[in-house]
Amino acid sequence: MGASGLALLGFLITHLAGNLLLFIPGGALFNEYAQKLESLGMLLYVAEFGLAFLFVFHSVIAIRLKLDNLSARGSKYAGLKSKGGPSRWNIASVNMAISGLVMGAFLIWHIKSMKFGPSIAQGYVTEVKGTLDRDLYRLVFETFKDPIQVWLYVGVMIFLGLHLRHGFWSAFQSLGLIRPRFSKLISAVGVFIAVLMAAGFLGIPLYIHFILPGVKTL
Ligand code: HEM
Repeated sequence: MGASGLALLGFLITHLAGNLLLFIPGGALFNEYAQKLESLGMLLYVAEFGLAFLFVFHSVIAIRLKLDNLSARGSKYAGLKSKGGPSRWNIASVNMAISGLVMGAFLIWHIKSMKFGPSIAQGYVTEVKGTLDRDLYRLVFETFKDPIQVWLYVGVMIFLGLHLRHGFWSAFQSLGLIRPRFSKLISAVGVFIAVLMAAGFLGIPLYIHFILPGVKTL
């Protein structure tokens, strides 16, 4: 669970790094980046298969753990309180199942609308380095013209931050990599990564919706 979570975080970091090109007006660099990924061909399919496997594996283990925990206790705790010391109870840790479910639902909608969204045949076409390619920038740009989608993305990214905030610490804990005296440090790094990833991802819809229309292109 911990190892698959960290591997998924690795994907998220590269996904955010690529998506940061959306901050560059015009979209030529973002579309070029998308074309480079497409040009990986077979390698991209293998990576996508690996990613899908990781998501499914991570979710199945999470559901099994949740069910085991519920059946081991039989009833809910009357109240929740951190034990102190290495214990890391917080709002993020008790809501991992909810934030995980939100991420799962988001992913289905996100991949359907982006990856399998309008194609060249529907007119989403642009020239990238002399060849005609799918205009992914236009798709993202149009998605975030819609205020409902902007606020949905912002809301989901807050759940993503909460999930990463506890998940990062928890991964190190379950892999047995935390000595008690480093527990606070790992937890702080988890907070840093969670804020960075959530802010990076939610900054994109907010920028495209509110700031980009006023940015002058050369
Ligand atoms: C503002 C935030 C985001 C934007 C603008 C964005 C944009 C995109 C775009 C344009 C694609 C299609 C790529 C293609 O067809 O080549 C894509 C695919 C994908 N995105 Fe996002 N994304 C965002 C956030 C996220 C988050 C938070 C996650 C995960 C929790 C995620 C997971 C994925 C996955 C798994 C794919 C499919 C990758 C593939 O099969 O190659 N995205 N995203």
